[in-house]
Amino acid sequence: MALFIDSSDPKEIKDLFAWGVLSGVTTNPLIIAKEAPDADLGERIREVLSVSWGDVSVELTTETEKEMLEESRQYHAWDPARITIKVPFSEIGLRVLHQLSKNGVKTNVTCLMAMNQAYLAALAGATYVSIFSGRVRDMGYDVKPVISSTRNILDREGLKSKIIVGSMRHMMDVNEALECGAHVPTVTPPILRKMVWNPRTIETINEFNSAWRARPKKK
Ligand code: E4P
Repeated sequence: MALFIDSSDPKEIKDLFAWGVLSGVTTNPLIIAKEAPDADLGERIREVLSVSWGDVSVELTTETEKEMLEESRQYHAWDPARITIKVPFSEIGLRVLHQLSKNGVKTNVTCLMAMNQAYLAALAGATYVSIFSGRVRDMGYDVKPVISSTRNILDREGLKSKIIVGSMRHMMDVNEALECGAHVPTVTPPILRKMVWNPRTIETINEFNSAWRARPKKK
């Protein structure tokens, strides 16, 4: 079981890794374009690597097999042990994935909305298969059976891919992903902070500390 952070912000990542609950990072082009539109991708990812541990997913942005393999080579060189090439799912994506997995490169097949897609990615050797919870729900479908049927088929067939569930919009998405058999929820910093927060916990701690401060002191 693991929990990843879905962010490219080195400051946030450093702060949140200090909690000891995270073991990897996922990014995508939209996240990086929003968080650091002017950043050099290589510099940004190197900063992320320096303040975290575990696998760091970096997504391919090119669209032909040749370009995607070249882009993968460039990213992989930044840290061969930790860089995980995020491959958008498609027919070309499967060809690229097959090449990368044959060469022992870690991969995260992304933008998956259905079990059959995750199954194909797992057969082609994906290290991770990423199911997009919020985007499945945006289409009006329930994501729970997508996650649980993917987990069942991976276990039944002895396929080694781990299921990442991303595109989390609410705390309940995280809980449901865990209950349905996701190996790795990936959460944004605001959702991770919400996982800590509970008004009754705060109230209880305040009650205990107030009682301690107000205790009768020995003269
Ligand atoms: C997961 O790896 C993706 O980066 C991410 O969770 C996508 O989510 P979105 O639907 O918020 O773009």
